[in-house]
Amino acid sequence: MIRRGYISITETLLVTGVLTIACTPPGAGTTETGSSPDTDGTPGESSGAAGSDGGADGSGGGGPGEGGGPAGDGLPCDVDAILAASCRSCHGVTPLGNMISLLSRADLLADSPTVPNATIGQRAVSRMQDATTPMPPAPALPVAESDIAVVADWVAAGMPAGDCTTDPAPSPFDAESMCTSNRMWQGCGESDRMKPGEACIDCHNNGDNSGDCEDDNGPFFLLAGTVYPTGHEPDSCYGFAGAVVEVTDASRQTLKLSTNEAGNFYLEAEDAPPGFAAPYYVKVVYDGKELAMATEVTDGDCNTCHTADGDQDAPGRIVLPWQ
Ligand code: HEC
Ligand code: HEC
Ligand code: HEC
Repeated sequence: MIRRGYISITETLLVTGVLTIACTPPGAGTTETGSSPDTDGTPGESSGAAGSDGGADGSGGGGPGEGGGPAGDGLPCDVDAILAASCRSCHGVTPLGNMISLLSRADLLADSPTVPNATIGQRAVSRMQDATTPMPPAPALPVAESDIAVVADWVAAGMPAGDCTTDPAPSPFDAESMCTSNRMWQGCGESDRMKPGEACIDCHNNGDNSGDCEDDNGPFFLLAGTVYPTGHEPDSCYGFAGAVVEVTDASRQTLKLSTNEAGNFYLEAEDAPPGFAAPYYVKVVYDGKELAMATEVTDGDCNTCHTADGDQDAPGRIVLPWQ
């Protein structure tokens, strides 16, 4: 599924060094440098099947790129998955040569440019069942019979609209303000779980101790904040433990900061690699998904903008990736 709006800037960066910092109490010295060069796989470019030009009835018409909508649009998810797996390497967004697209329901409802009185959907089924000139063409494996049946049944039913693209997970920013963890920080000072949701650096680095705790400043942080399950959780509410905040700095070094029991993460200046500096590119990674801040950020005091209501155009809290 393509997520618009949030682009993963860090993926386009050349990451030269990776350092992992777990959020354990300072003093435990858990900084470890890794040297793994981020082996970002190059986007798998499908090479298609070699020279599949032995088409029976000439090149199918339809016009290159004459798509009827984005991939999956209007299709049931099972049909969409089959076309994605077996067909779109050739009949995709930029179809090979002068070929039809098999992206959306509109594509499949269209009349076949080569076979009279047939829709593309009907032709797709016929060609999957065709023993002499099958789709996908040899040497690709034929589509499983059960999968062909899924597409055939849907076409026979008149290709009713499905909603594979239209059931996105609910946005955590639509949730009411609540404290999901149902746990509030109480008391003062001396803990990495302190004051979740509040602007850590503003207090730590500026010596604004608000009179309620000890007089010392807290440790000097380059970055700090709190990750929450939903978008508008109140100050002092414990956030989400076990998410990872990935921060790539101006010199393309990436740090991974884990959130602790209170959802807090932070980077002490003395634990940062040499030269680690703003602007930062940030994203939250959890459960195989990620959510990036689309713009770079120079202020490492994340919660100044990521308040319960959101300040300076932030949508609210820093949240877990949800789609
Ligand atoms: C390796 C590339 C490739 C793949 C993968 C592929 N096709 Fe094709 N397809 C072609 C080529 C080349 C043509 C034009 C020549 C022809 O008709 O055989 C074509 C033509 C077609 C046509 C239009 C011609 C007609 O008979 O109406 C349909 C429909 C079609 N393919 C359906 C499919 C379906 C469904 C799949 C997936 C199950 C698929 N194709 C997978 C290469 C491919
Ligand atoms: C209102 C001021 C204030 C705010 C807001 C604040 N802190 Fe602190 N923090 C302190 C002070 C003062 C200390 C030092 C206590 C001491 O050393 O005696 C401290 C200490 C710490 C320590 C060191 C604890 C230890 O075991 O030595 C950590 C870690 C910490 N804060 C994390 C955070 C994080 C993360 C946030 C934001 C979510 C935050 N703080 C928000 C005032 C604040
Ligand atoms: C100066 C204000 C500001 C600061 C400081 C800031 N952000 Fe953001 N953040 C925004 C705005 C505005 C957006 C929405 C637009 C965008 O993505 O650029 C956003 C969006 C995000 C998002 C995606 C949506 C969400 O809320 O989860 C993440 C993740 C995020 N920020 C993480 C961080 C982290 C981590 C830090 C601290 C290193 C940080 N931000 C500091 C303003 C800020």
